[in-house]
Amino acid sequence: MDKIKLGIAGLGRLGRKHAENIHYHIPGAELTAACSVVQGELDSIAEEMHPEYITDNYSELLSYPLDGIVIAASSQEHCSMICEAAWAGKKYVYTEKPLGMSLKEIDKIKESVMSNKGMKLQIGYNRRFDSSIRAAKKKTEEGFVGKIIQVHMINRDPAAMADFIIKFSPKSGGLVMDMLTHDYDLARWFVGSEAKSVYGIGDAFVYEGLKKAGDIDNCSLLVEFKNGVIGQFETSRNSAYGYHVEMEIYGSKGNIRVGMIPLRNRVTYMNAEGINFDTAGWFYEYWEPTFLSEIKDFIMCIRNNQEPLIGLEDGYRAVEWAVAATEAVKKKNVVFFR
Ligand SMILES: NC(=O)c1ccc[n+]([C@@H]2O[C@H](COP(=O)([O-])OP(=O)(O)OC[C@H]3O[C@@H](n4cnc5c(N)ncnc54)[C@H](O)[C@@H]3O)[C@@H](O)[C@H]2O)c1
Repeated sequence: MDKIKLGIAGLGRLGRKHAENIHYHIPGAELTAACSVVQGELDSIAEEMHPEYITDNYSELLSYPLDGIVIAASSQEHCSMICEAAWAGKKYVYTEKPLGMSLKEIDKIKESVMSNKGMKLQIGYNRRFDSSIRAAKKKTEEGFVGKIIQVHMINRDPAAMADFIIKFSPKSGGLVMDMLTHDYDLARWFVGSEAKSVYGIGDAFVYEGLKKAGDIDNCSLLVEFKNGVIGQFETSRNSAYGYHVEMEIYGSKGNIRVGMIPLRNRVTYMNAEGINFDTAGWFYEYWEPTFLSEIKDFIMCIRNNQEPLIGLEDGYRAVEWAVAATEAVKKKNVVFFR
């Protein structure tokens, strides 16, 4: 079987990991081409993985013969990159979340993708590939919790990453867009409904640097879904104890929780002072298998010309929600959806 030829745009924190996954861990695929505006990243990939083609120009990447494009560039680049791929007639594109940064951008993306008949666009909400979350989803579908009443989502980045986050924030779209779109995507997947309204409170409690960039470091949101389910979303950039992502599906017959204790591994330390565990440190180590799974799934979509698990509509809804939720936090107001 011929290898699926992939080209990647963006070789930073996450793009580099995607490149490694394709090159080292997916025998049915090949990292054929790579694009970045950072020369050092291109040099390092060329030296280590020897792609056939490297460029600092995304249009040139699109002109190279490839089966699929992986977009892992900064979030502000997603709209122009997806649209250009659609206009160039590309059929298989994976993009990191979020789909775009504004309603205008996601509308433009939708129009471009729809105009390229048959185009499959996969969105990088990697948590849907997590085995624990999938087990919880299956149990929920089997009726374990009965009628879903509430979903609670917790998403906390470690304080240890403060300096990085303050630097990253201006390119990220802000706390809600960058972090909570993951939680919203998962919640709507479990609840099977869209948001009807959102209310939120948040501020820059700890990082003055974020305040200067117009961003915040903590917030809580209350969401009413169209089917009546209540959603509570809490996020923080300064978790003192490490990386913590948790969800709870609470229903008429019981509840399911995923990630209650944010463990790094299965090691337990016991001595005269007590019992201890290591906390998860950062997003990549916590979700590592999901990043490989989502790219394997993208390759399956290319091989079988099938729809991705997370497509245009999912990406669109998550951004539409994040724009409203960001406004709700800014104005301390309830925002209603159309
Ligand atoms: N799924 C997740 O959990 C998760 C986690 C982290 C980041 N992300 C997403 O991944 C994306 C990248 O984030 P990151 O932290 O790796 O960013 P980064 O700043 O480390 O890297 C950005 C990359 O984009 C490239 N780039 C920027 N403009 C470009 C252009 N015009 N042409 C080609 N390349 C260009 C840069 O060269 C760089 O390689 C973001 O959209 C972010 O939201 C997702």
